[in-house]
Amino acid sequence: MSTLQVDGERLLGRLKALGEVGRDAEGRLVRLAATDADKAGRDLTAAWLAEAGLEVMVDRIGNLFGLWRPSGCAEQAALMLGSHIDTVRDGGIYDGAYGVLAGLEVIQSLMAAGFAPARPIMLVAFTNEEGARYAPDMMGSLVYAGGLAVDEALAARGEDGTVLGAELARIGYAGALEPGFVRPHAYVELHIEQGPVLEREGLPIGVVESLQGISWRRVTFTGRANHAGTTPMAMRRDAGHAAAVAIAHLRELAAASGPATVATAGTLRLEPNVINVVPRLASFTVDLRDPDDARLAAAEAALEAFLADLAEREGLSLTVEVLARFEPVVFDEAICQRIERAAEARGLAFRRMTSGAGHDAQMIARISPAAMIFVPSQGGISHNPREHTEPEQLVAGANVFLDVVAGLVSE
Ligand code: GLV
Ligand code: MN
Ligand code: MN
Ligand code: MN
Repeated sequence: MSTLQVDGERLLGRLKALGEVGRDAEGRLVRLAATDADKAGRDLTAAWLAEAGLEVMVDRIGNLFGLWRPSGCAEQAALMLGSHIDTVRDGGIYDGAYGVLAGLEVIQSLMAAGFAPARPIMLVAFTNEEGARYAPDMMGSLVYAGGLAVDEALAARGEDGTVLGAELARIGYAGALEPGFVRPHAYVELHIEQGPVLEREGLPIGVVESLQGISWRRVTFTGRANHAGTTPMAMRRDAGHAAAVAIAHLRELAAASGPATVATAGTLRLEPNVINVVPRLASFTVDLRDPDDARLAAAEAALEAFLADLAEREGLSLTVEVLARFEPVVFDEAICQRIERAAEARGLAFRRMTSGAGHDAQMIARISPAAMIFVPSQGGISHNPREHTEPEQLVAGANVFLDVVAGLVSE
């Protein structure tokens, strides 16, 4: 059993404090990327990083770094620990924040123990992991890994008409560093599972060995606005009706693809959005995921064919915009084995698993060995204010993280 221990009270206290930053008038947690709420969350996090003695830095895409670079090992490639502090609308307090604050806790615990690392540790809060305001999701880590040009990302226009680069500058988090300025020795991310597997099996630790593919599209049907009372049913070019049919079809599409395929229409917009007008325009998003890339591609093709056929039958024009497309990722086997050994040494039962959610680790895996640690989510609920993990489970996960990090910076 490791003699190192995180300060559980400090970790839980910080999670609670950050979880209060970005509450709207109704008390909902809304810390969308590059908003005033995000700025407040970043300011608090940056203050904790500085207080811990870390070198605080920001890159051009707004990724926030805390670097521990003891003089003896400054030239070695850094171990990177990270996640995000942006949230979805009406989200929970653990998604992302847990990984960042536990990373800080791990570094502070190593410092307090007088631990002399053989390489620097760089903690990162990546910009816009959620993609709830700007697509694609996992944007800060994608840019960091070289998968998207920084200028292209900064030009992203949000659901609310804002431009990410201007918003980052406005909140004071448009840094000068080029993303990717350090190629990590390895990357580890601790996160809540956000699904039901660990709780159902009574396991405190998930060793995340892979992450499923993600496909995001915006589908827009355009027809003709007309009077709801006078237009015979056969004469309508009703974009709203087509959207309803297409959204309902997602269930069949997923079922036909297989039990691992999931499909969601999370947003819907009608124009002119008036009770007595046949909708001229209907726009909705599709989130399609599958651990198998060939099956995901087949489901995408089936969706496109269905939409084209539907538009033609209904006399509508159709546009389909790909907002994000990420292949499934297999994480680093050696890091997974380290996580298993760390859990075992602390007497914590674990299983290997695939992540259903997207994470920054999947982007950083392009440039570095990477893996993730999961802790259980009560009821499998996330992206919801009821997101919860028991305090002991949060602390246990952070201690496994601590041991994995200690091992990775010992060599
Ligand atoms: C992000 O949380 C995602 O998996 O969509
Ligand atoms: Mn997350
Ligand atoms: Mn999330
Ligand atoms: Mn996520």
